[in-house]
Amino acid sequence: MNIQSTFNCLCTFVTYFCALMKKIQLQHPIFHKVQQAAENLQLESFVVGGFVRDQLLGRESKDIDFVCVGSGIDLAHEVARLISPKLKVNFFKTYGTAQFVWDGWELEFVGARKESYQEHSRNPIVENGSLTDDQNRRDFTINALAAAVNKGNFGQIIDPFQGLKDLDNGVIRTPLDPDITFSDDPLRMLRAIRFATQLNFHIEEKTLQAIQRNAKRIEIISQERITTELNKIILAASPSIGFKLLDETGLLAYIFPEMTALKGVEYVNKQGHKDNFYHTLQVLDNLAANTDNLWLRWAAILHDIGKPKSKRFEENNGWTFHGHEVIGERMAKQIFKKLKLPLNQELKYVQKLVRMHLRPIPIARDEISDSAIRRLLFDAGDDIDDLMLLCEADITSKNEAKVKRILQNFRIVRIKLKEIEEKDRIRNFEPPISGELIMETFQLNPCREVGMIKNQIKDAILDGEIANNFEEAKALMLKLGIEMGMKTK
Ligand code: CTP
Repeated sequence: MNIQSTFNCLCTFVTYFCALMKKIQLQHPIFHKVQQAAENLQLESFVVGGFVRDQLLGRESKDIDFVCVGSGIDLAHEVARLISPKLKVNFFKTYGTAQFVWDGWELEFVGARKESYQEHSRNPIVENGSLTDDQNRRDFTINALAAAVNKGNFGQIIDPFQGLKDLDNGVIRTPLDPDITFSDDPLRMLRAIRFATQLNFHIEEKTLQAIQRNAKRIEIISQERITTELNKIILAASPSIGFKLLDETGLLAYIFPEMTALKGVEYVNKQGHKDNFYHTLQVLDNLAANTDNLWLRWAAILHDIGKPKSKRFEENNGWTFHGHEVIGERMAKQIFKKLKLPLNQELKYVQKLVRMHLRPIPIARDEISDSAIRRLLFDAGDDIDDLMLLCEADITSKNEAKVKRILQNFRIVRIKLKEIEEKDRIRNFEPPISGELIMETFQLNPCREVGMIKNQIKDAILDGEIANNFEEAKALMLKLGIEMGMKTK
């Protein structure tokens, strides 16, 4: 065992021992500053929520939330003063919250609150409260854990809802009646699924049933908040866990109906097709094992999204989905718009991968020609490696021998891609002959013929008829022009 793993073991042991003693290690200097500030102001203060949870789970966190019984804004100012008089505190009197960044940590301070929400409003009625009131209004038992930062009880965990036990058993459960917790903020239904996916926890039965009952309430939540949670699910190690829960609880039909439409198998003459919902989830998980690129993961989610609209049963061919990649490309734009996802290069990238996701398949199946490889490289450009990852993830057959064979073919395609790219530099290919040169040579104004010559030169290069250089391209331009009856100047 090396020094690093001995150290890691020791840390895990100390964390576990501390949890047993209902104590948490608060090593960062910020905690001592808060302790000092709390003493100066005579305020009971606590670190609460995600930081405590993540510390106990050994996960990294980027922000720390402090709660005190009194004014969070005063506490934040006092902590900032102790660190440096120059530190700027952002505070919001209306909400009683204050925030500043120190040493890369985002620090939030708030006075303990009692909150209640009204049926059709997102604005809570807020009153000052005790730590217990504050813990009561939090979403899950594992997020309601607090640890004291005062002198006498530094690091002591306050766990009124058995959050420690739920952390141990991997359970997501609301502290109060789940109907109340979800009605206070329906986004929490998505958060439950997000945490279950990220932590590989399971949602306690009553909590799960409450999500099913309250799913429709997600409609009052802003699209931005919903999409943030959805992206966190997508970025988890096994996003399928989240999508299955979203579907099971009925939330998916509200937030992403195009995905629900992928579900189900239809039969004609006893012939069925695969269930495209579960297939898509399998592709997404396969891909997630190889990339953290959110947009590539989105391409996996959308690669077959056009299938329900293109589905036909043909007597001779069985089920077909002709053109689903083009329909999918169009739908990607509508979905990105609706979900308020970025509409610039991220959307273009996803659309390109959706449109091209079938392209490498025949190449892998047939005898691979250099010309097909050049065309694939030309069309995919710098996204070729991502496209190959998507295509490999798309092989979800249960027949292991078949999967092995196709993957082997893809390996050959990859080797060929590398060879051709090294030889012909097609990835960022710019035709060596410009439209301007064609016009100047044949004294033409912009016209269809210029485009035709340009395209034929491009095709000749991609088909390997001429080399990718100026001399051979110019010779072909002159030949084509003369054949078309043009005169050089
Ligand atoms: N919280 C809540 N209800 C919400 C959002 C947040 O009760 N809708 C509480 C939880 O106690 C949570 C804390 O506020 O732990 C901080 O919220 P946030 O920073 O959004 O989430 P974290 O739990 O820290 O998790 P992550 O950083 O992964 O988002």
